[in-house]
Order: sequence, then C-alpha cells, then structure tokens
Amino acid sequence: MKHTDIKQIMTKPEEYFGKKVTVCGWIRSFRDSKNMAFIALNDGTTLSHLQIVIDKSAVTLPEGATRVGSSVKIDGQAVKSFNKNQVVEVNAEQVTLLGDCPLDYPIQKAKTSLDYLRTLPHLRVRTNTFNAVFRIRSKISAAIHRYFQERDYIYAHTPIITGSDCEGAGKIFQVTTLGYAPEYKSVEEYNAADFFGQSAGLTVSGQLEGEVMATAFGKIYTFGPTFRAENSNTTRHAAEFWQIEPEVAFAELDDIIEIATEFIKYIIKAVIDECPDELALLERFYEPGLRAKLQKVVDDEFARVDYTEAIEILKKSGKEFVYPVEWGLDLQTEHERYLTDVVYNRPVFVVNYPKDIKSFYMKLNPDGKTVAATDLLVPGVGEIIGCSEREADYDKLLKAINDRGMKLSDYENYLDLRKYGSVPHSGFGLGLERILMYVTGMGNIRDTIVFPRAKGELR
Ligand code: 4AD
Ligand code: MG
Repeated sequence: MKHTDIKQIMTKPEEYFGKKVTVCGWIRSFRDSKNMAFIALNDGTTLSHLQIVIDKSAVTLPEGATRVGSSVKIDGQAVKSFNKNQVVEVNAEQVTLLGDCPLDYPIQKAKTSLDYLRTLPHLRVRTNTFNAVFRIRSKISAAIHRYFQERDYIYAHTPIITGSDCEGAGKIFQVTTLGYAPEYKSVEEYNAADFFGQSAGLTVSGQLEGEVMATAFGKIYTFGPTFRAENSNTTRHAAEFWQIEPEVAFAELDDIIEIATEFIKYIIKAVIDECPDELALLERFYEPGLRAKLQKVVDDEFARVDYTEAIEILKKSGKEFVYPVEWGLDLQTEHERYLTDVVYNRPVFVVNYPKDIKSFYMKLNPDGKTVAATDLLVPGVGEIIGCSEREADYDKLLKAINDRGMKLSDYENYLDLRKYGSVPHSGFGLGLERILMYVTGMGNIRDTIVFPRAKGELR
C-alpha cells in the first residue's frame, strides 16, 4: 500500500506542505463537531500523532473510522497547522476504513496502568509508553552493534542449545525430545537415549563459546537470547533475556573495565541523541529527572570500590539489612541499592569478589581468596553487568573445575584454549533489559521486553 510514514511528514513538514499525501495508521482519538471531525492518527513510526481534519460536508466518514483503535488510510493534502501544538496536519479527501475496532477494545484510555497493560502484551505495544520503550530498545540495540563494529569486533553467533553450564548456578532449562519414563534405569541411561545422546539445555551465557572466538579473532561480541530458570519472581529477573557479551583477548581486568565504561557511555549517549521525545515522555510519566540522570552517566566518571571495602561500608552504615553482611557472602539487592543509591549515586564497579561466590572461569587473584571479577551496579536497578578477567592458566582452571565438582568432559575444549597459545583475556555480559530499565525508568523488567517470560508466566 503506497503511503508515507508519519515520521517523515512530522520531521520534514516543509517538504509536504501543499502536497497530496497518503498516510495509514490507527486512530488514537476522535473528536467530532457539527461540520468538522478530527482524527489523531498514529502509525508507530513516531510518538507524535498526525492530526487529520475532516470536512464532513465534503468527505464521507465510514462508520468505524470514528472509533479509537480502528485502522484507516487517509488520502489528503498536508497543510500548515494553525494549532500551536503542531506544525502540520492533513486535510482529508478520502477516508478508507482498513479495520474496524469495536468498542470492547481494551486500550481505550490514554493512560492505563502498567500492571493492567501487562495482561495485554499483544495490544500494549500500541500505547505511547511502549512506543517509546520499544523504540529505545531498537535504537540501543543498533548502537550496541555500532559501538563494536566501529572498533573491529567480530559479531559471533553462539549456540542456543548447549551441553555445558557456563555460570554453574543450576538455572538451566532442559532441552529434550523424550519424556522421562520408568524403563530408564538411571538418569545417564535416559540422557543417552535422548536426542543428543547426553543432557542438553538452553544457554545461560554465550561466554564459553565467545572465548573460543576471541582466541582466534581477538575481539568479539555476542548479542542474543539467554535463558535462566530463575525461580525467584522479582522485577529484575526474566527467564528469557538478551545479553551482550564482548570477549577481548590481551585484556586484563582494568582494560575490560575501561571498555565497559566507554561502551555504556556510548550507548546511553546514543539514546539521548536519537530518542529525545521518547525520553521526555518517560521522564514525564515514570521517572522525574531521567534525562539529567542519563546525561550525568555520560559526563561523570564511574565509581569503583573493592568488594572488601564495600562490605566495610555496608557494615558501618548503621542500616538494618534483611540479609546478613559478611565478607564471603554475596551482595543482595538491598546491599547493592545502598551502595548505588545512598553511597555513590552513580554507576559503581564493585571489584575483586570472593572466589567462592563467583563462577569457575574467573581469574584467581594473587591473594588466593578473591577473583578478578566486577559487577557494574547502577542506581535504581542494581547489577547491569557481570564482568571478569578469565583464568588463563591451565592448571588453575582445571583445579577450579575439579574443586566445584564439575564434569570435566564438558570443559575439555574450553581447557584446550589454555593449552594452545593461552592469552590473558577478559569479557563482560550486559543484560539488555537491565540497561533498558535504567534508561527508560521502567521499574519492572517485564515492561522492557515484548513478551516477558518468567516463572509461571508464558503468554
Ligand atoms: O552476571 P551474569 O550471570 O554473567 C554472565 O553470564 C557472564 N557469562 C558474562 C560474561 O562475563 N560474559 O549475567 C550478566 C548480566 C547481568 O549482569 C544482568 O544484567 C543480566 O546478565 N542478567 C539477567 N537479566 C535479566 N534476567 C535475568 N534472570 C538475568 N540474569 C542475568
Ligand atoms: Mg552476575
């Protein structure tokens, strides 16, 4: 259907004044008077609605073309608007109803609660809020690719189905074509009879395969879906989320922290530059001060604190936490929040965690107790990046695998990377939905992904 995007007309109105145009879209509001009618039309290409002016004595209005949600095609003439809130409008010459929208359309009102909209994932995308959120999601994704492509990283596609557990947290979704049946005498026998002849699962991280690529190409990144059978029902955990995982050879922990910092600033700046209207809307309805917060991230240095010092700060805070604060224990959300929201009020890298609360692949520090790992925490959200230098020493890695009782045969290829031309290397994982929560002000991860998956939730 030949037509012009509303965004085109809105951004370059002078090119359209006095010209015939055809636009298509959904009716966002309809206003009627004796001789005239007005449609606010949205086609999704921009947050802005295009005003369609209908002279009822000259143009026939099909019955459904007066209802919110109906889809229409308008042929008419673009003209300067006398309304001070808009530059351009279209005087309709013909209104064609494409799809009627009956009165039970559940998204009638301009502002409906996010909780309610979550029950309508297939329709909520037509609201202004989600128009903004998902355009930002698209723009930030493009910026992520641009950042790495401009710096000669290779975009690596790592497998979705995997036989090994990267993070070792036991949150793998099993992949099988067989239902378990009593005739199998053991789990091993059952796994052997299955599609791959062994147990298989959905990837929790592309890192291990990313390291394979990095030890050939030097600099790579992955950007794809990741799955975790998170049992907890929180506002920050999804069972399916998108992760960006750069892996860089010849980089030590400080190098990768520098890259992560530059990268986060770059992609946030891209959103500031490319999505001003979207940010203004989100600031107005969801997070006062959102734009100033993001600008500060671009302008200011990130904080950095040792895990050991962070524990001291938390202990001295005088605050009563629900979970205990003790060296050796992982930081809980409430602890992370205290550090980001109260102590630093900006992004902070917590560095050198105890080895026992982190993954097997992280490089052991000379103290023998901590690993060269860092999490990047941001106010309001908590952890957005998990990062580390990888253990590049064959024997130390082997020991870490054995100490954790992991199945050695699953990691033989991975160990080979340390056997044949091992190099210091580091990488990180950014959760796309986590950074989107931070950038959009959405308080629930379910509002940053079109069809959220979480425990007991599959729409
Ligand atoms: O900290 P994580 O578990 O690190 C890894 O997976 C490493 N392999 C990354 C690497 O070094 N290549 O996860 C990385 C990030 C987290 O910081 C968080 O932003 C996001 O992934 N994440 C989740 N996002 C949404 N829902 C979940 N259940 C998430 N789990 C992790
Ligand atoms: Mg983590």
